Amino acid sequence: MEAGAAYQEAVASGRYARPTGLLGKDDNVRVYWEDRVTAYFITPVLEEVVADRKRRGRGLRILDLGCGSGDGYELLARLPASRVSWEDCRPALLRPGTLDCYLGIDLNEELLAEGRATYGIPGKVEFARANFCEVLPSGPGGSGFDLYFTSYGTLSHCNDAELEQLLVNVAAQASPGAIVVADWLGRYSYEWQSLWTHEVEKVPTMDYVMSYLDPEAERENQQYTSFPLRLMSRPEVTRVIEQAEKRSHARLRVLSFFDRSVFIGRHMETRQYNPYAVPLRRAANCCWNRGYGLISRP
Ligand SMILES: C[S@@+](CC[C@H](N)C(=O)[O-])C[C@H]1O[C@@H](n2cnc3c(N)ncnc32)[C@H](O)[C@@H]1O
Repeated sequence: MEAGAAYQEAVASGRYARPTGLLGKDDNVRVYWEDRVTAYFITPVLEEVVADRKRRGRGLRILDLGCGSGDGYELLARLPASRVSWEDCRPALLRPGTLDCYLGIDLNEELLAEGRATYGIPGKVEFARANFCEVLPSGPGGSGFDLYFTSYGTLSHCNDAELEQLLVNVAAQASPGAIVVADWLGRYSYEWQSLWTHEVEKVPTMDYVMSYLDPEAERENQQYTSFPLRLMSRPEVTRVIEQAEKRSHARLRVLSFFDRSVFIGRHMETRQYNPYAVPLRRAANCCWNRGYGLISRP
């Protein structure tokens, strides 16, 4: 449970809460770039599912796996009704009439409580403690969900056997035509170039630390709890999906692969895994902050 301890540490730092801008979990790059790239890719797919469920006289049912404090809910709630450009955020795809329910599950009670306090609507938007590597909770009346959502590298918490089982469980439960949004840490991100390898089988995970939450001056004196996260590339993902498909007797079709922030990941800033990384994240964060030039004041 190294990951559990690391998340507790991050929550206690106060920088895992929003909003932050230049630093922290919800910095400007995440809010104005990474989440919008995700939104850009998933909007057209979800649009079809929402329209289909509307024809059947109901709204969308969402299960957010590893929801934390509900950032995924916020991202989904801001999705535009159709994809015009990635700047376009109105009107919303998910409105009271098009959303049946959102259930966010996570292991961390503090984050769940925060999500509940910010977004909770009893019977509609709920947060519960559950382990997505075990039995999945069901939707209204024992139904499955239409969208199985993950954000911000959450599936990197699973090893391959756990991921395969999760996909088998989803396939057994999901409503016909359901969508899975799967989010991992990319293996070939420049921020950890030192970990790039041809021996993928031998090095599936990295020892991850959330040192990016602290300003540079504070990082040196901190002891961070590390935890293993699975680095993924397209062939590795494909292999697990094929295995899950064989076991589940359901058709699992990949709709698209996309990359969010290959040159501007959070650890570009810390140089923790690549001494040659240029601290571009802070520079980009500054661009979005009023009153900051690119060569910023501290
Ligand atoms: C990288 S964070 C992402 C949080 C949130 N989805 C976001 O977009 O910011 C991963 C989350 O997954 C949760 N988590 C990790 N393993 C889990 C498991 N087996 N079951 C449920 N939640 C888990 C962690 O507690 C953490 O909140």
